[in-house]
Amino acid sequence: MSHVTFKQVQNHAEIKTYIQKADEALEKQGYTEHSFAHVTKVAETAKDLLIRLGYSEREAELAQIAGFLHDIGNVINRVDHAQSSAVMAFRILDRMKMPPDEVATVIAAIGNHDEETAFAVSPIAAALILADKSDVRRTRVRNRDFATFDIHDRVNYAVEDSRLILDADTRSITLDLKIDTKICSVVDYFEIFLNRMLLCRRAADFLECQFRLNVNGTALL
Ligand SMILES: [Fe+2]
Ligand SMILES: [Fe+2]
Repeated sequence: MSHVTFKQVQNHAEIKTYIQKADEALEKQGYTEHSFAHVTKVAETAKDLLIRLGYSEREAELAQIAGFLHDIGNVINRVDHAQSSAVMAFRILDRMKMPPDEVATVIAAIGNHDEETAFAVSPIAAALILADKSDVRRTRVRNRDFATFDIHDRVNYAVEDSRLILDADTRSITLDLKIDTKICSVVDYFEIFLNRMLLCRRAADFLECQFRLNVNGTALL
């Protein structure tokens, strides 16, 4: 069995097509950007978290691969896309001859990333949850007509700056957000993101870290 690298996954023509088509389908449904910018950022963040927390290079690379593939199932349907992404990733990685124990780790992480059904079943899954749920930023909003913004557009658009800060010494992971409260109140933010933030807290717990949320300099979690 060969060693499937992140580079191979990233440069895989078939995977690129699915990511692009999945994003096009979401665009038609009015969702925020889920294309290469999102999945690459998630891949890098998940890898970085695990490396800095002392996990092996390979575990970090599997998290990176899971990050890149986690949203491809949106090409089938938004509903249950964690499951469809996992099944698609299974077929692709299997054909790339990734060993079954690694495939299992990657697809379990992908299948457990969506809010409704997410669970930090492994360090890779925990890193994927943290990386995915913390990617809120203005550039993900595609709607250019402010008058027709829904609450998701508003909440994302209001985020002027977002950073996931890991302090490996104190084992704390902080999502630090700067929000324009003229666009979205902190209460609106909480309404949309409370579940995600609680999920991040459980994922951080799994990595034996404490999760903190800072909005405009105030600690909310
Ligand atoms: Fe997703
Ligand atoms: Fe995502």
